[in-house]
Amino acid sequence: MGKYVIKGGRKLEGSLRCESAKNAVLPMMAAALLTEGEVIIRNCPAISDVADMAEIMRALGADVRFCGGDLVINSAGLNSYTVPERAARKIRTSVLMLGALLSRAGKAITVCPGGCDLGGRPLDFHISALTALGAEIDFAGDKIIACTSKRRGAEIRFPFPSVGATENALLYAVTAKGITRIHNAAREPEITDLCGMLNSMGACIGGAGSSDITVYGVKRLKGTVYTPVGDRIEAGTYLIAAAVTGGKLEISGIKSENILSLLGKLRDNTCKIEIKNDIIYLQSVNRGRAFSVRTGPFPDFPTDLQAIITPLACIAEGVSEIEETVFGDRFRHTVELVKMGADITVSERAARIKGVKALIGAKVCATDLRCGAALVLAGLAAEGKTTVQNSCYVERGYAGFEEKLRMLGADIVKKE
Ligand code: UD1
Repeated sequence: MGKYVIKGGRKLEGSLRCESAKNAVLPMMAAALLTEGEVIIRNCPAISDVADMAEIMRALGADVRFCGGDLVINSAGLNSYTVPERAARKIRTSVLMLGALLSRAGKAITVCPGGCDLGGRPLDFHISALTALGAEIDFAGDKIIACTSKRRGAEIRFPFPSVGATENALLYAVTAKGITRIHNAAREPEITDLCGMLNSMGACIGGAGSSDITVYGVKRLKGTVYTPVGDRIEAGTYLIAAAVTGGKLEISGIKSENILSLLGKLRDNTCKIEIKNDIIYLQSVNRGRAFSVRTGPFPDFPTDLQAIITPLACIAEGVSEIEETVFGDRFRHTVELVKMGADITVSERAARIKGVKALIGAKVCATDLRCGAALVLAGLAAEGKTTVQNSCYVERGYAGFEEKLRMLGADIVKKE
């Protein structure tokens, strides 16, 4: 599973450019199945989630390869609609094969998807949206068997703006006959970007980035060359890494309007932030102030940065409150942070964190992707040596994580 060994106490300083957003690239890979034309996704991060998605697509008959930093996909030779079980169980976005394969082949067989364990992650919104669009879906154990004979536009209203369910509905609706309206759609920048990519392939989608998306179905999509939006979670992670070590960072390739909620919290913590064009500058102080966070769908504070900002609260002056409203079980990192001397009390969906002067290095264990990144950041800030077990989780979402941190001055190595 691999581990990171970190000697804490070094201030991180320097500049970085962020990669294309993982959560944009993965649905775009699924979208590449909608055409026989070639799709090129620019500046694609070399992360294990992309490798797992590529494995699924190759098993379906697509040609997927890296060419420099670009991902080149040609699915003209698609010859299967059965998603391989082992790979499907590894990643959450395998569920997007339902919308993509129904759109392209009229049939799809997969199993319940894997991904980070953040409490129950049901599929009811996905299933009801695809069913409204004309799919017939059966379950056999955890196998999902979907087919369609009449793809038709529909009115879809989500009870919660689910990112994955909005993407699945879009992938299917773009080639359905007639008009689809998605109400209470997710507004994340990665959704807007997926719509931008689909439109560049010939789809006709309006309202992306708002809660009401309208899709005018088209018969056929063509290939495209597309540069996805920068990864706001990756950018946020390095900004917090600089803040937690009392350092300074210049990060480019990210639209600041996509992480305003984070920048506000960093300012509350007394970090100085400047924004010029697509560059964000952060200068931190030695010990910042406590702050409060409430996660929510975009543009609220992203749940994916909740664990990652927690180490900053652990060493801030005063008491911070962190509330999680998106997922039911996303505080596992706090158990590990307590082993490092943090003073955290968790009740239901909120954590109360009393800042301590310093964290102390310890042996800790990542339980998911963002938990792993959070523990590495805690280790960078801590006194002494920290070992973070299960580095494989972090590799799902960060390209060259320890190399980039080392470039900024961190003392971190990965061991198998
Ligand atoms: C995506 C992101 C993930 C991020 C999350 C929330 C990707 C690959 N993953 O995950 O990094 O943390 O958005 O921003 O883009 N829900 C249901 N029924 C459903 C679908 C969702 O009840 O059918 C609930 C979930 O349990 C959760 C909430 O809706 O409580 C949000 O989930 P959703 O937005 O769907 O997250 P994902 O698409 O899985």
